[in-house]
Amino acid sequence: MRYYVTTPIYYVNGEPHLGHAYTTIAADILARFHRQKGDDVFFLTGTDEHGTKIAQAAEARGLTPREHVDEMAPKFKDLARRLDATNDFFIRTTDAEHEAFVQGFVEKLKAAGDIEKRTYGGLYCTACEGFWYERDLAPDGTCPDHGIKPTWLEEENYYFLLSRYQDRLAGFFRANPGWVRPQSRYNEALSFIEQGLEDISISRRSITWGVPVPWDPEQVIYVWVDALINYLSALEYARPGETLRDRWPGTHLLAKDILKFHAVIWPALLMSAGYEVPAGEFIHGYLLMGGEKMSKTRGNVLDPFAVMDTYGIDALRFYLFREVTFGQDGVISMEGFEQRYTNELANELGNLVSRTVSMIAKYRGGEIPRPAAPDAETLATVAAEGEAMVAGAAAHLDDVEITAALETVWDFVRRLNRLVEEEAPWKLAKDEAQAGRLDAVLHGLAAGLRVVALALHPVIPGSAAEILRRLGQPHADADLRLETAVWDALVPAAVEVAPPLFPRIERTG
Ligand code: MSP
Repeated sequence: MRYYVTTPIYYVNGEPHLGHAYTTIAADILARFHRQKGDDVFFLTGTDEHGTKIAQAAEARGLTPREHVDEMAPKFKDLARRLDATNDFFIRTTDAEHEAFVQGFVEKLKAAGDIEKRTYGGLYCTACEGFWYERDLAPDGTCPDHGIKPTWLEEENYYFLLSRYQDRLAGFFRANPGWVRPQSRYNEALSFIEQGLEDISISRRSITWGVPVPWDPEQVIYVWVDALINYLSALEYARPGETLRDRWPGTHLLAKDILKFHAVIWPALLMSAGYEVPAGEFIHGYLLMGGEKMSKTRGNVLDPFAVMDTYGIDALRFYLFREVTFGQDGVISMEGFEQRYTNELANELGNLVSRTVSMIAKYRGGEIPRPAAPDAETLATVAAEGEAMVAGAAAHLDDVEITAALETVWDFVRRLNRLVEEEAPWKLAKDEAQAGRLDAVLHGLAAGLRVVALALHPVIPGSAAEILRRLGQPHADADLRLETAVWDALVPAAVEVAPPLFPRIERTG
């Protein structure tokens, strides 16, 4: 199976923040999970570098747009790397190959007869890089996403005849109810379509920072059209000498702020240019801090770099998807983060690993014992639960339910902790008659932790590999395949006692 997953390409008008990290981590979780299933995965992320917003940001810094984007894009690239994201390519819309592809794409729209020159006036929000209908603005006339007043913009531009696609889009939506998920976002997009689509301007005369319209170099292509096309253009040049065209259609991840562009305009552009529409779109919610959406424009951002420096990237990856149900808005805070870190990562998972390894060291000379006990009925139940956990978590990830997958895994982590309490290996160790039972329990804990590590790999890859390593289990990419996540695949091996996986952090601030 092929699996092509994308994040939005991020605006480089400011520093990368946790909101950007969030979608990139989500896409990485899905990419890693699909690799575990043996799928041929292509994972794309990158930066959106043209348009008014970027030109203005550059000007404010006294730089040319080119100087500005060349300085900012590496920061986003670096963020992806530090998040442990396994993206196969990082696209920049200022790549010459992308720009050429965009021009070819709009030529196709023109050849289809879907482009017209017209004068249009509308309320334009620079932060959105989009027009608003008056009916969709907040009661005080501000942009509901950015809280700023859109300004009237009027130009003679090239128009894409979006209205022509109204029926086709509505028909497509009705025939594909799961195409946009969650359902609430599907309903929102469909109702937007049903309210009537107006043609959209796809070029700008007033700015120069963009891709020139091929038949009229006085104008540049509208930044959103330029940006959306990245999902296709990257496939042409991500791997030199090879086209990945057959990876299309892909699955898009994005937040609800850019739903309309992805679920309405993008499929219409694709239909017009003769491409398949995306395979599906998953729309997640906003990370909120202090009750508001985090955004550069609002200035209420949590610095992902600072959190990672202190706690490690896995802790951040875990927290975001454990705390906020993927698909819904959710409040995050440093206090909430520290609580989950201590209670769940350090205590429930980290301690379980430490205890298991140190008990195997202490009672069995550091070798995972082979299970021999005929009386270990409890262990057979735990084994079945462990394998059911893997299947359950995988089914959730197949449905992009990342938080539900984590819940399934965590129930089982807690089950293993209960096993330790119930069986009290330290008591069994004192009674020679219980040697077989102790073997079974220690083996069960190691086997349980092994399947936990495999199930957690997509979310906390570094820690999962470390758990496997401490248990003496193979942990190269090829060893992480989901089909090996069965109880009996535990290899008898020597364990390694090591410092806590998630050390306690003294608060400094
Ligand atoms: N450049 C456009 C996207 C073009 S895609 C063809 C853009 N860029 S952006 O930098 O503003 O990024 C928006 C995306 O970043 C959101 O859709 C979401 O994926 C992510 N997020 C930004 N802030 C976020 C939160 N506070 N919460 C959740 N996601 C956030 O729009």
